[in-house]
Formats: sequence, C-alpha cells, structure tokens
Amino acid sequence: MGIENCRIIGLPKIQDPRGNLTFIEGGRHVPFDIKRVFYLYDVPGGAERGGHAHSRLQQMIIAMAGSFDVILDDGYVKQRFHLNRSFYGLYIEPMIWREMDNFSTGSVCMVLASEPYDETDYFREYEDFEKALPTRTR
Ligand code: TYD
Repeated sequence: MGIENCRIIGLPKIQDPRGNLTFIEGGRHVPFDIKRVFYLYDVPGGAERGGHAHSRLQQMIIAMAGSFDVILDDGYVKQRFHLNRSFYGLYIEPMIWREMDNFSTGSVCMVLASEPYDETDYFREYEDFEKALPTRTR
C-alpha cells in the first residue's frame, strides 16, 4: 500500500477524423469494478477540492475537459499529478490523502469509484488518516 501503486493509466483511444473515442471497462482498463461515477464541474477559479482520504475506496480520476492537479500523499511521500487529457486516468488506491487544485476554466473532473458513496469510508481529518496508517519499516 502506498503512493507507488498510484499511477497514470493510459486508456484506449480510437482516433477518427470525426472525433476521437475513448472507452473504459471495469476490471480491464481500471483495476476494479466500477460501482459509481461522479464529476466536478463549474469549479470556480482558485477553488480547492478533496482534502480527504478513503479507507477502502479505489478511484480513477480523469480530466474529461480542461486540466487540474491532483496531489497525493500516502503519509510519507507527496506527489503532484497534472491531468489534462481525457485518455489518461490517475488510479488512486485506498489510504491516500488527496487534494485537487489548479482547475482551468471549464474543466470537468470525472471520478470512477469502486464503491457506492459511503461517508463512513472517509477520513476528513488528516490526523485521523495518519493514525490509521499501517506502520512502515522504510
Ligand atoms: P466530497 O467527497 O466531500 O467532495 P470534496 O472533498 O471535493 O469537497 O463530497 C462533497 C459532498 O457531496 C459531500 O457532502 C458528500 C456529497 N457526495 C455524495 O452525496 N455522493 C457522492 O458520490 C460524492 C462523491 C459526494
């Protein structure tokens, strides 16, 4: 478990002069069955989203339009990812604190999730997240 398992995954892209097409199959292009989809849009300039972690939830974040940054933190290492293409997804495993900022005007952030919405799966306080992390030897 850790940030090293979070990664950018390239999605299939069917190039066509009429417009490109990307598709995503749960368990094939994302390493989980997709149980929920949600999206952020109409994000005002300077806004920050996220600021939480999940106990069990796996997610993939895709910039469907525009661009934004996702900052991941496993309690030991922090990494910033810039998402700006709709054929790349950022896979996030459980127990990763995430923040999102730098949204461009008109950006749309789509999230594929491995579970339905469950507030009890959230860590909303960084301190609670840190306390729940498994002890590491490295
Ligand atoms: P939240 O996950 O806290 O988003 P952010 O951390 O970016 O602010 O969700 C914001 C609100 O939306 C919160 O009250 C819970 C609600 N929500 C749902 O009801 N269902 C969902 O699938 C999601 C993602 C959020």
